[in-house]
Amino acid sequence: MNPRLERLHAYPFERLARLKAGVSPPPGLTHIAMSIGEPQHAPPDFVVDILRASLDRLGSYPATAGLPEMRAACAGWLQRRFKLPQDSVNPETMVLPVNGTREALFSFVQAVVDDSRAALVLMPNPFYQIYEGAALLAGAEPFFLDTTAATAYVPDLDAVPEEVWRRCQVLFLCSPGNPTGAVLSLAYLRQVLELADRFDFVIAADECYTELYLEEQAPPPGLLQACVASGRRGFERCVVFHSLSKRSSVPGLRSGFIAGDPRIVARFLLYRTYHGSAMAIPTQLASIAAWNEDSHAERNRGLYRQKFERVIPILADVLNVEKPAGGFYLWTDVGGDEERFARDLFMTQNITVLPGSYLARPAAAGQPNPGAGRVRISLVPNVDVCAEAARRVREFIVNR
Ligand SMILES: Cc1ncc(COP(=O)(O)O)c(C=O)c1O
Repeated sequence: MNPRLERLHAYPFERLARLKAGVSPPPGLTHIAMSIGEPQHAPPDFVVDILRASLDRLGSYPATAGLPEMRAACAGWLQRRFKLPQDSVNPETMVLPVNGTREALFSFVQAVVDDSRAALVLMPNPFYQIYEGAALLAGAEPFFLDTTAATAYVPDLDAVPEEVWRRCQVLFLCSPGNPTGAVLSLAYLRQVLELADRFDFVIAADECYTELYLEEQAPPPGLLQACVASGRRGFERCVVFHSLSKRSSVPGLRSGFIAGDPRIVARFLLYRTYHGSAMAIPTQLASIAAWNEDSHAERNRGLYRQKFERVIPILADVLNVEKPAGGFYLWTDVGGDEERFARDLFMTQNITVLPGSYLARPAAAGQPNPGAGRVRISLVPNVDVCAEAARRVREFIVNR
C-alpha cells in the first residue's frame, strides 16, 4: 500500500463518533445534528425536475471537460457574481466541471505538486480537512497558518518566513472561511497575488461558501475579481473552486467547477482524464439551470440569515457568539474544554456539535491547537429547529 496513507489523520467525524460512544442522551429529546456542514434546505424544484427529465441521457459517457453549455453557464455566473468584464472568463480554456469541490480540491493538489522538490502546501488553520490529506498524499508537507481572533480569523501573510514562501507550491485560501466565516478582502487577495508572483506558487481559492453572506449589498469578493482589480487578464497562478452544494442546497448532486489560469486548467484536465472524473450529463443539465438562476440562491441565503437572527439573541448572554460575515457556522468560544462541552451537550440535550480542535492542528510542536476552546455549530437544520437547539444550548450552559 501507499505508505503516505499512514500519514492521514482520522477524519473529524470519526473522532466525534468516538467521543460520543457509550454516551446516552435523554430519550425524550429528539436529536439535532449541528456537526456536519450538510445543507438541509429543500433542493430547488426546477433543478430536480431537469435531473429527472434528463435521465435518458445516462446512455452515453460524458466528456471530462463537460458540455460546452455547462462551462458557459459557470463562466457566465462567475462574470455576474464577481462583476468581471464580459468575456473575461473563456469557458473553453478556463473552466472545468468537477464532482463537488471536495474531490477537486484533493485531485488538484495531486496534479499540481512537484514532489521532486521539498514541497509545502500552505493552508489556513483550522481548515477543511481535505487540504491536509491532499498535501500529504501528494508528497508535500502541510504548513499551517493559524486563523485566530488575534489575526482577525485570516492567515497572517506577513508572519510567514521567506524560506516557507520559497518552498510553497500551493496556497489554499477559504473565503468565507470554514469554520470561521471570515471573508478575505480584495486588498488581502491582491497581496496574495503579489506573493504568488514573487515566489511562483499556485493559489487554490476555495470559494464554496461565497453565496452565503450576511449583507445582501456586500457579497464576498473572489480571487478572480482581485486578478481583474490588479490588471491581470489571464488569472495566472490562480484557480477558484465553486460548488452548488451550499449555493443551491444540493450537496447530493455533487456538482461544482474550477476556473482560472488556462495553463493550469489544461494540465488538470489531462490529470482528470486519467483520474476518470467526468460529470454525468443529467447532473450537468441540472447544474446549468442552477448556475443560470440566481433568485433561488438569494432565498437560500435569506434562510441562513434568519437563523443567525433567531439563534444569536438566544445565546448572546450565555455564550460568546459572533455573527460571521459568511457561511453557516457559529465558531464559538466555549471558554474551556471543547471536547467536554460537545460530549456533555450531547449527553444532556441530544445536540451534536463539532469540537474545534478536530478541525485544526498545532502549527508546530509545542504550539497550541487554534481550534481548542471552540466548537463549530452548523446552522443547517431549519430555522425553528435551529432556534430550538439554541434554547437547549442555553439551558445546558445555564445548568452546567
Ligand atoms: C470549505 C469547504 N470546501 C469544500 C467543501 C466541499 O463541498 P462540495 O464537495 O459539496 O462542493 C466543503 C464541504 O463542506 C467545505 O466546507
